[in-house]
Amino acid sequence: MKTRLIRPELDGLPSYLPSPIPLDGNGAPQTNGSVRLALNELPFGPLPGVVDAISSAAGDAHRYPDMAALALRKALADRHGLSPDHIVTGFGSVYLLELLLKTVCAPGQEVVFSWRSYEAYPVAAVGGSLRPVRVPCTEGFGQDLRAMAEAVTPDTRVVLICNPNNPTSTAVTRAELTKFIDSVPDSVLIVLDEAYGEFVTDLDVPDGLVEYGDRRNVVVLRTMSKAWGLAGLRVGWLAATPEVAGAMRKLLAPFATSTIAEAAALVALRQEQEVRRRVDRITSERARMFPALKAFAPRTPESQANFFWLPMPDPAGFAAHCADRGVLIRDFPEAARVTVGSPAENNRFLEAVATADSLLLVG
Ligand SMILES: Cc1ncc(COP(=O)(O)O)c(C=O)c1O
Repeated sequence: MKTRLIRPELDGLPSYLPSPIPLDGNGAPQTNGSVRLALNELPFGPLPGVVDAISSAAGDAHRYPDMAALALRKALADRHGLSPDHIVTGFGSVYLLELLLKTVCAPGQEVVFSWRSYEAYPVAAVGGSLRPVRVPCTEGFGQDLRAMAEAVTPDTRVVLICNPNNPTSTAVTRAELTKFIDSVPDSVLIVLDEAYGEFVTDLDVPDGLVEYGDRRNVVVLRTMSKAWGLAGLRVGWLAATPEVAGAMRKLLAPFATSTIAEAAALVALRQEQEVRRRVDRITSERARMFPALKAFAPRTPESQANFFWLPMPDPAGFAAHCADRGVLIRDFPEAARVTVGSPAENNRFLEAVATADSLLLVG
């Protein structure tokens, strides 16, 4: 009998997800004019100054970047009233999450998160030889913090809270989160993944860094892929205590923030006002679309992110219907997820909604 080359725990993970964006034989996007509302990106293109910063940094492409990414860590730290020893940057916040788990957990320990939540969570847990503990969402697709607190055992090292939650778009409030953090032993690390934090308009939803940044067992994970428009450059960062951040830097992949990514991120960070304007455009489109989507898929929760979660009986059929009409969205087994794009893109999606077979959507 042949010996196994692959760890058996990986058998339970889904195979690599095919891109919702059609690619040609060479891997280039083949959208044929379709609008891309599948990956929760912003529709506006890079921020002013970013392309120039990339071009200038390209002249140094033959040199390694600054291993410590100090300029970017300083800029992020200044923006949030911290010192750089609290900050870790790397190629996407998803990588930093994996690194964090590797830094704080011993093999076999538990990582608690809501389900559904971000698909990378179980992958990061299993990849780190940890036990993923999925706590079902509430009826309204929120994270059930009470049940999550009850799921914490002496083996739990980390709880992941995605606020707002991808893919269900809901957010937990300050009151809920404070109660949760106070109720969990401070030996458990609480990760607040705020990839979509910039899109929150509900004043009851906290900014994790402002409200909990001084707690020893809270880590705030952020990304420049969404509101900051740098998805293709892979810039994620987190804020933690110097103890946790310093330990993470011991295991950080060398040169985990590229020269080009760092230069682009530094310029983007100077465009705060423009980011605000862009986010406002998305949140006002979100408000415009909500009534039509609620009428179409009545269990759609109010979104605090730049996407909607549309529960329905046949999400794959609906995604195919949209693709036929030039709109690319994501389907999950129990719902479709659509990114809020530009007004023209959203109108195209709303037209696809209006022509969807009503039989498909009952339930
Ligand atoms: C909740 C959440 N966290 C983290 C990420 C990863 O972002 P990054 O592009 O920084 O790896 C995503 C990306 O979709 C996300 O939805």
